Amino acid sequence: MDGAAELVFCVNGRKVIEKNVDPETMLLPYLRKKLQLTGTKYGCGGGGCGACTVMISRYNPITKRIRHYPANACLLPICSLHGAAVTTVEGVGSTKARIHPVQERIAKCHGTQCGFCTPGMVMSIYTLLRNHPEPTLDQLTDALGGNLCRCTGYRPIIDACKTFCKTSGCCQSKENGVCCLDQGINELPEFEEGNKTSPKLFSEEEFLPLDPTQELIFPPELMIMAEKQPQRTRVFVGDRMTWISPVTLKELLEAKVKYPQAPIVMGNTSVGPEVRFKGAFHPVIISPECIEELSVVNHADDGLTLGAGLSLAQVKEILAEVIQKLPEERRHRHTIVSEPRQSASFPNSRFPRDLVELFPKFWKFGCLVEQMPGKVSFLSTEGERQIPLNEQFLTKCPSADLKPGEILVSVNIPYSRKWEFVSAFRQAQRQQNALAIVNSGMRVFFGEGGGIIRELSIAYGGVGPTTICAKNSCQKLIGRPWNEEMLDAACRLILDEVSLPGWAPGGKVEFKRTLLISFFFKFYLKVSQILKTMDPVRYPGLADKYESALEDLHSRNHWGTSKYQDVDPKQLPQDPIGRPIMHLSGIKHTTGEAIYCDDMPVLDGELFLAFVTSSRAHAEIVSIDLSEALSLPGVVDIVTEEDLRGVNSFGLFGEPEKLLETQEVSCVGQLVCAVVADSEVQAKRAAKRVKIVYQDLEPVILTIEEAIRHHSFFQGERKLEYGNVDEAFKVVDQILEGEIHMGGQEHFYMETQSMLAVPKGEDQEMDVYVSSQFPKYIQDIVAATLKVPANKIMCHVKRVGGAFGGKVTKTGIMAEAVFAAGTARRHGCPVRCILERGEDMLITGGRHPYLGKYKAGFMNDGRILALDVEHYCNGGSTLDESLFVIEIGLLKVDNAYKFPNLRFRGWACRTNLPSNTALRGFGFPQSGLITENCITEVAAKCGLSPEKVRMMNMYKEIDQTPYKQEIDATNLIQCWKECMATSSYSLRKVAVEKFNSENYWKKKGLAMVPLKFPVGVLSTAAAQAAALVHIYLDGSVLVTHGGIEMGQGVHTKMIQVASRELRMPMSNVHLRGTSTETVPNANVSGGSLVADLNGLAVKDACQTLLKRLEPIISKNPKGTWKDWAQAAFDESISLSATGYFRGYESHMNWETGEGHPFEYFVFGAACSEVEIDCLTGAHKNIRTDIVMDIGHSINPALDVGQIEGAFIQGMGLYTIEELKYSPQGVLYTRGPDQYKIPAVSDVPTELHVSFLPPSQNSNTLYSSKGLGEPGVFLGCSVFFAIHDAVRAARQERGLLGPLKLDSPLTPEKIRMACEDKFTKMIPRDEPGSYVPWNIPV
Ligand SMILES: Cc1cc2nc3c(=O)[nH]c(=O)nc-3n(C[C@H](O)[C@H](O)[C@H](O)COP(=O)(O)OP(=O)(O)OC[C@H]3O[C@@H](n4cnc5c(N)ncnc54)[C@H](O)[C@@H]3O)c2cc1C
Ligand code: FES
Ligand code: FES
Repeated sequence: MDGAAELVFCVNGRKVIEKNVDPETMLLPYLRKKLQLTGTKYGCGGGGCGACTVMISRYNPITKRIRHYPANACLLPICSLHGAAVTTVEGVGSTKARIHPVQERIAKCHGTQCGFCTPGMVMSIYTLLRNHPEPTLDQLTDALGGNLCRCTGYRPIIDACKTFCKTSGCCQSKENGVCCLDQGINELPEFEEGNKTSPKLFSEEEFLPLDPTQELIFPPELMIMAEKQPQRTRVFVGDRMTWISPVTLKELLEAKVKYPQAPIVMGNTSVGPEVRFKGAFHPVIISPECIEELSVVNHADDGLTLGAGLSLAQVKEILAEVIQKLPEERRHRHTIVSEPRQSASFPNSRFPRDLVELFPKFWKFGCLVEQMPGKVSFLSTEGERQIPLNEQFLTKCPSADLKPGEILVSVNIPYSRKWEFVSAFRQAQRQQNALAIVNSGMRVFFGEGGGIIRELSIAYGGVGPTTICAKNSCQKLIGRPWNEEMLDAACRLILDEVSLPGWAPGGKVEFKRTLLISFFFKFYLKVSQILKTMDPVRYPGLADKYESALEDLHSRNHWGTSKYQDVDPKQLPQDPIGRPIMHLSGIKHTTGEAIYCDDMPVLDGELFLAFVTSSRAHAEIVSIDLSEALSLPGVVDIVTEEDLRGVNSFGLFGEPEKLLETQEVSCVGQLVCAVVADSEVQAKRAAKRVKIVYQDLEPVILTIEEAIRHHSFFQGERKLEYGNVDEAFKVVDQILEGEIHMGGQEHFYMETQSMLAVPKGEDQEMDVYVSSQFPKYIQDIVAATLKVPANKIMCHVKRVGGAFGGKVTKTGIMAEAVFAAGTARRHGCPVRCILERGEDMLITGGRHPYLGKYKAGFMNDGRILALDVEHYCNGGSTLDESLFVIEIGLLKVDNAYKFPNLRFRGWACRTNLPSNTALRGFGFPQSGLITENCITEVAAKCGLSPEKVRMMNMYKEIDQTPYKQEIDATNLIQCWKECMATSSYSLRKVAVEKFNSENYWKKKGLAMVPLKFPVGVLSTAAAQAAALVHIYLDGSVLVTHGGIEMGQGVHTKMIQVASRELRMPMSNVHLRGTSTETVPNANVSGGSLVADLNGLAVKDACQTLLKRLEPIISKNPKGTWKDWAQAAFDESISLSATGYFRGYESHMNWETGEGHPFEYFVFGAACSEVEIDCLTGAHKNIRTDIVMDIGHSINPALDVGQIEGAFIQGMGLYTIEELKYSPQGVLYTRGPDQYKIPAVSDVPTELHVSFLPPSQNSNTLYSSKGLGEPGVFLGCSVFFAIHDAVRAARQERGLLGPLKLDSPLTPEKIRMACEDKFTKMIPRDEPGSYVPWNIPV
């Protein structure tokens, strides 16, 4: 085995030679830290988010072809890149050279907000276009399947990408009987005359054409290298690991003999996460990247043989080709294998991996047969051996497993025979890019005629440590005819054979049991249907009502519209207010030039800080042993409580929080100490070596119910009362009592908590660069803990890669700031702290889980006269903003309804979970859902549609809220009516009912919810804002204000304001970022008010300047800004002004229950339609229409973006996102692999957003309204549409009683609520007879 000293590859056409490469290095840190190419982002480090996507190109000297594929740089060892060309976002285009059409279109179609996901999106689409310059919509959805975006809601990204498709922007859907090009129900009516609508937020005509000849060529040097260089094994030796890349099969086998324990790494999507997250370590890695025999594709009579080194993407392409050529009856197995959509995001991952994980793919391939099995070929120095893909193989029987020294060479997939049918099924939490909860492969062979089962194979994944085959069941069914009796027997046999204990890892046990037989039922239906087509006389087949059970739910042709009011034709053309201006960082987002905190270059002597957190929910710390950690190389310091010099607590909301806990921990994830080392790797390694001994304490309170039992609350109840509830209950026709539980939500901002503290070297000054929504708070806490005045600490925020409330108070950020700053001062050098995704999710909490209990008194016609509501939120271990969340929840619990008598009470529960905090909507998404659920139940009791009951109880015109603030609800009603009209609610309601009457296993649901979102922060002081505007002598303007740019486009809006006020083009105005140095004491950026409040301050500053300059301008009206600035300077007129807004008058008196806490109300309505699969619990979002009253929009493009982004985030909250905790209080869901936020395929197939024509002027900024938060709640229209569909299913099955559905409405809840003969068949565990894997909190 010959060694090769050098690793050679190219990055963006530049040759990189690494002489002493460390095999543990992944491409992502190499790009970001070594090559300073910071456009590629870190979002999760585990292949789950796509932020780090790059394009890899390889030249094959034999085929002379170049292959381009996307790869996640975070899991790509650089040693695997020898001879490859890497293209990053910087190599695609830049503002300095030429912007690529992909970059231009995503930016101009408003497909960026915080911009953190954008480079990854660009790279996925760019790679697709390199392979398919005119992609199909399917290819597009596949290409984006592994890229998550938390801000935009994907629609504008899809729009941008669709401009490259050959097909028009048409929906290509006949879903509702018509497509978008047809006239009819999809056509949105124009707004009333006088309010001209502008249909387009961007203009396609100005886009650069895609010219494939302009792309970077594959570096000729690498081509020559591949052609000429003698092929020999390369060995890279690092401090701890050796990387061996054999180039022939012989060398691979030799390496395997020498290092039998060494894994063979291909895509590294299996080994990589194990090393990174599970502490696995391999001293030797074997990576056979270029061995021809492993890429074999062989069509023969006995089937298709595929090399073990082919990637999933390649396999998919090969099979798609093969299917075209095979006769119908030979295709079945290959058709199934050609659909590994769930893995679309891992185009580089190979199907052979650890056997346990490998199996599901094989049986999905349909290879599992006894008589004619597929085969895997193993090779060792002793020769080749073929193993049938049978039960022994699947269950890891030693004789059928890989032996040490053996490798897998290829897989053979036999063709199917006539009368043989193979199917695969899977159900996951999310449609795309999600591991299956249960998956299954099934095969039946009848032989000629008779319909008698000759062979049957059934296998399941997700129900045990290996694939489980229902072998005995299959044997017992052989010889039986394919009929209902067989089906019934099969279900019972399967449930008997494939048993799943109540405590099974992964939870969802009853759901999994149900899926076992639901999948078999689907298989039964599918085969029956095929039999019918083959021989309709003998096999009459299915009733029509059952056929839809087999139709694919997933739709991939998304389309949407946005309608807003064009500006008044009299408005000056250069006045940008009201126009859909692109986010000013849009192009920088798409080129990767936008700088985030961790993109700042490493400074001289910089240290890295990593936290050590508690692993117990409630325990006394008996001892902490730092010695081993301190002895590791590179470790500089470990910060403990003693180093905080007596300042170990801080708090905004009354009850100070401890920063470090060294005595008694009260949740898993609590900060105990922090390790400081000279590199991130060393700091994290050392943090794992800190040894803490705990003594567990009682009680451990995790759930709301437990907190209620223990009376564990933060302070007393919060209460609001209006009218006389008790009296009203005496006169109503009916009373109902109910409750709903709502799970929490992770912020999942794409940029994790980040900060860099830089001591200035004199006067104890320090600059702190931080990803925060509240720099003043960071400044205060750092100054207090360092015991220096605030004027020595300056906090700077250029932009934040998403925040959603999670970057305000959280311990993670406080601690980061404090500890990094403290260490920086102690050691006199800069300190950086960037949380990993898992740490971030664990430490920083999220949206509060809620329990809502209600008692409603109502008349038989649906009028609700009395409502008594109780809210409990799970606050976690510290107070944070929990009481404030409860208060806001109470103030907003009426949503859009006038309840004449009501009583609201709320409690924040203290539990042993990480402390929860603000998240977009701040209590309203939970509070609103509780109210809407109550209304839905009232409607069911009255036999009315929920929409009718909603309308009946809504505020009408001028009225009074429960806290006696005046409300004019005219626009609320207007939104409701518009939404009814634009969504064609009535027509579609009829269509849904018709569909439901014709389909038994699929149901549709339609629901519409109104929105009244009060905007304000309850106090005048909390709404004050300031700005600073300078005019320079060349006439250019610099604007600074107190708001943080976190994707919502506030800086863009502020420049629009300055441009209008100073009557100068936007290009003349610049904004550098936010700093406590330029605007002191700025309030937190949040609560939908950032642009509103800061805009008024910017406006004030500009008006002050203009007033000063008016005499000069009037003397020289034709002059330029340069002339006027110079003239002002010559006349000693100041060219700098501060602007100030003192805040809206607001107050709330909780004693009297009266006040004026809010400035205005945002009104809206959303109508959503879904389809559910009653057998699997899957659902499809068919269409959503949103109408919003947003006043006079300052920038319709940004405002539509906020509404859509919030809506999709809300949809995730109510339907997919599920935090899971162990019974010991450990958060399991710590990354995108376990916690699913909506992906591109979850966006409703149709999404229409329209604004109500502005009708009222107000004293807000140009009569606009804040929109950051309200849209989240509208996501619950999807929840209630699913509710509607489930109710329809239950009614058809004769289940007419109350329907209790908690949030999120996951596939598990949907399936289990659609009770049927299968759910009745499954065994149920006695509660308390086992310890479940997870508990609802
Ligand atoms: C975020 C994320 C989501 C995922 N989602 C899914 C999903 O939805 N569905 C799904 O099925 N999988 C999923 N996976 C798992 C992963 O993509 C697959 O398991 C993939 O098949 C692994 O291939 P790889 O080439 O990347 O494996 P590697 O990490 O390179 O590991 C390969 C493993 O197979 C062994 N091996 C490789 N080649 C050979 C050989 N020739 N002979 C013997 N042994 C060999 C190695 O020793 C090693 O143990 C996901 C992974 C991640 C990170
Ligand atoms: S950072 Fe690589 S996929 Fe998330
Ligand atoms: S713009 Fe996609 S995550 Fe922020």
